[in-house]
Amino acid sequence: MPNVTVIGCQWGDEGKGKIVDWLASKADIVVRFQGGHNAGHTIVLDKKTYKLSLLPSGIIRGKLSIIGNGVVVDPLALINEIDILKNQGLKITPELLKISYSATLILPYHQLIDVEREKQKGKNKIGTTGRGIGPAYEDKIGRRALRVCDLYDIENRKIFLNNAVLHHNITLKGLGKKLIKTSDINSLLDKVAPIIEPFVDDTVEIIHRENKKGKNILFEGAQGSLLDIDYGTYPYVTSSNTIAPQAAIGSGIGPSNIGYILGITKAYTTRVGNGPFPTELNDQIGEKIRKKGNEFGVVTGRKRRCGWLDSVLLKYAVKLSSINGIALTKLDVLDNFKEIKICVSYKLGDKIFKTLPTSAVLMNKVQPIYETLEGWNACTKGVESLNKLPKNALKYIKKIEKIIGIDISLLSTSPEREDTILIKDPFIK
Ligand code: GDP
Ligand code: IMO
Ligand code: MG
Repeated sequence: MPNVTVIGCQWGDEGKGKIVDWLASKADIVVRFQGGHNAGHTIVLDKKTYKLSLLPSGIIRGKLSIIGNGVVVDPLALINEIDILKNQGLKITPELLKISYSATLILPYHQLIDVEREKQKGKNKIGTTGRGIGPAYEDKIGRRALRVCDLYDIENRKIFLNNAVLHHNITLKGLGKKLIKTSDINSLLDKVAPIIEPFVDDTVEIIHRENKKGKNILFEGAQGSLLDIDYGTYPYVTSSNTIAPQAAIGSGIGPSNIGYILGITKAYTTRVGNGPFPTELNDQIGEKIRKKGNEFGVVTGRKRRCGWLDSVLLKYAVKLSSINGIALTKLDVLDNFKEIKICVSYKLGDKIFKTLPTSAVLMNKVQPIYETLEGWNACTKGVESLNKLPKNALKYIKKIEKIIGIDISLLSTSPEREDTILIKDPFIK
């Protein structure tokens, strides 16, 4: 059966949650495959707003929702998010939510170290979400992480925990911080383990079994391609791979079964946290985009930096993930601009860059080269088809398609589920 993988093509917050929710009507299962509660995915439905960080967005539609092995799970954050969503009236049962027994746990020391390290870096900080994501993935690669399955193996849990605490106390001592006690973490794990246990399962088996039965799977990416640990604007990135191949690694589906790859991009660009951003607008236009687009972080409430669409980085993201089609979001935010710009290359002195500079330092120095288009000064919210769009809005879309060489499959014109124009159904070959 056709599967679909949703990938952010910029620096995150492209509107993945809204698009995943919309597509979830056609899917049977939604799977998260990387990241953790650094993600903030917003879904607006009947004027009610749902904010998801760890739970797959399919949970809103009551679809089987899977947290795959590639995700880092903070048990307290998970329990808290389940409670909030239940209070909002959602059903979250062990039949609907499955968590991989091999997902990595984020424990309190990860968050502590994340925050302390950022403090130490001062003005060179990455601007992380402070959720412990980096230190937890480091533990995974360092082979000292505790995983969900370890919650239920008391004997080994103690051994693993001692090992991890020993390691982290060296850092904490160096930072002049209070040391962690294994017994404190153990008591916390004793408390959370039974709450999570009903949801824990062999998600690789479930995914393969259900897919074989003909169920459609939607793989929900978090963050964005330029935050990828290998391909993003390193070191100003997150600590996981955020591009399409990770859908296979982080879920166990196998690389030829991740299906149609849908890249999500805003009609402009935003970034939250530090790092290079060639098209950033530190002026009234940037402020206007922020205001109209309500560009404030879901997780940390920070102001998102705003700028024009950058086709250089979009083309890069398309390559990295073999993107098949684009979902263009937040077109409505550009409704009232006299002119709209698209960055088509960068320059530094006499040198022109048509591809991404090779380092964040270089990327910080380049200047964008723009093509300028006329704005449309009309409302696009709720427009039902492409041919009903204002002429200049359609021109903008066609221009993007031409520059990046990929067609737009979905167009979003408001946070609401229904304000979405379908051009090519990703679930139909
Ligand atoms: P995600 O992390 O990619 O899921 O995106 P976020 O939820 O962090 O940020 C996207 C924001 O834009 C959310 O507040 C959405 O409700 C909102 N949004 C999504 N699509 C549209 C759209 O087409 N127009 C407008 N105005 N807002 C949108
Ligand atoms: P969604 O899924 C936007 C950014 C942080 C910081 C960097 C590293 O909502 O698109 P981390 O806490 O991951 O170590 O922080 O990555 N970042 C995001 N920016 N959207 C996200 O997720 C992000 N997740 C992490 O701001 O710059
Ligand atoms: Mg977000």
